[in-house]
Amino acid sequence: MRPKLVVGNWKMNGSRANNATLLAGIVEGLGNGKANAAVCVPAPYLQQCADVLAGTTLAWGAQDVSLHASGAYTGDVAASMLVDFACRYVIVGHSERRAYHGETDHMVAQKALAALDAGLTPIVCVGETLAEREAEQTNVVVGKQLSAVLELLDGDAVERIVVAYEPVWAIGTGKTATPAMAQEVHAQLRSRLRERSGLAAEKVAILYGGSMKPDNAVELMQQADIDGGLIGGAALKAADFLAIINAA
Ligand code: 13P
Repeated sequence: MRPKLVVGNWKMNGSRANNATLLAGIVEGLGNGKANAAVCVPAPYLQQCADVLAGTTLAWGAQDVSLHASGAYTGDVAASMLVDFACRYVIVGHSERRAYHGETDHMVAQKALAALDAGLTPIVCVGETLAEREAEQTNVVVGKQLSAVLELLDGDAVERIVVAYEPVWAIGTGKTATPAMAQEVHAQLRSRLRERSGLAAEKVAILYGGSMKPDNAVELMQQADIDGGLIGGAALKAADFLAIINAA
């Protein structure tokens, strides 16, 4: 059995004061349990996470990473810098970055590689738009997005990624894929992993993201190939985030 993983994606939300309250609430709720959970926060708050979360069961990470190691890339943040802040995870290829920053499948793959090379776990996001779903292109689109990553990674590096299926039409809209719809895509993603490596197919966690809330988390995470969640809005309230972690 793969352990469930719940990751909060704060997106561009937070302030020092709000983060302090939110993180304290989550840590208190987790107690000494063995939850497999993390928050991915805006880069300026990574030090705050390192200060507050070191020694707790809550891990932390970033929401993007440069595909370059260092140099003249104004505004970018290198994977080695995220390691400096003791990040465990970094989200790559979120649909908001693909849509607003023109990130291509190949760039996302390069970012995943940069993260792995630095010892981070990339959370590789894939997902179709509503138009793509209506055109029955979902499996083609997410398959292509995942394949670009698999093509770039050598050997057992594939075993060290996390995949997140986030249908674009379900993000921040309150519309969730039904458990059956999500499971179908997750199974498809897992078989693509299996074509590459049986071990990777067994090991890699495939998270669901897109309006996951306390009231739908249990049913989604009961599906055979849904190994946890990547949570946006509901990760900004300690009680909701904890309820989702408990559902896992
Ligand atoms: P919501 O949970 O707000 O729909 O966001 C999902 C998401 O994009 C997580 O990365």
